[in-house]
Amino acid sequence: MIAVHGVTREYRRVTALKDVSLDVRPGERLGIVGESGSGKSTLARIMAGLDRPTAGTVTFDGRPLPEVDRRTLRSSVQFVFQDPLSSLDPRMRVADIVAEPLAALRLPGDRAARVAELLDAVGLPPDAAGRRPHQFSGGQRQRIAVARALAPRPRVLVADEPTSALDVSVRVKILDLLLDLAGRMELTLVLVSHDLAAVRYVSERVAVMRAGEIVEEGPDALTDPGHPYTRELLDAVPRLRR
Ligand SMILES: Nc1ncnc2c1ncn2[C@@H]1O[C@H](COP(=O)(O)OP(=O)(O)O)[C@@H](O)[C@H]1O
Ligand SMILES: [Mg+2]
Repeated sequence: MIAVHGVTREYRRVTALKDVSLDVRPGERLGIVGESGSGKSTLARIMAGLDRPTAGTVTFDGRPLPEVDRRTLRSSVQFVFQDPLSSLDPRMRVADIVAEPLAALRLPGDRAARVAELLDAVGLPPDAAGRRPHQFSGGQRQRIAVARALAPRPRVLVADEPTSALDVSVRVKILDLLLDLAGRMELTLVLVSHDLAAVRYVSERVAVMRAGEIVEEGPDALTDPGHPYTRELLDAVPRLRR
């Protein structure tokens, strides 16, 4: 569905990604894990077409990204960011925040009805529509961000550290929401996090990154690691429980 091949991303002094190749397969839940600065966000942004590689190719359904029109890409691949406070405009009502991609992509249909449906899907009450982001808890704000991302009915949701700004008690609820939505909406989910427990909880397949490279990738990367670095990462990480 999304294929990254031989991708390098250089910033002025830093090589954020070095010759990275990774496929996102339709319907799967893919985890990308690694310590801070390992290149996870850069890879996620490149996959979603929010950033461009210095070298290498990214394809969506077999077509190179520069050839996929912006509207198709934006409605097919949506992004959820770490901090809902900074990703949600505090002056806007939740209804307008959630409907924003529908307006931006000029998608047809009854927007109020779609907003109501989305709020329900992410577990927010109907009256959330008329309120503003500061009237919600961190976890609820991330639900708003997820509702907005789902608005254009994307096929792929890329969530970059979606629980890292949240209280521990709320994290698993947001992960359960992502799992539930992925199942119900046949969504392909890419979860990017430094939090191994979160990635293990959600993902069917995991890519482990270190210093701009994927050191290990597979369904068992976090349960039966083959690389010493993954074993090091896994040291003393508690498992999340429902
Ligand atoms: N816009 C940028 N300008 C310069 N350097 C950047 C930029 N974005 C990321 N980097 C650098 O690239 C490396 C990888 O960053 P990032 O992809 O954010 O890692 P992660 O998400 O795993 O923490 C880091 O060294 C980071 O400082
Ligand atoms: Mg990051």
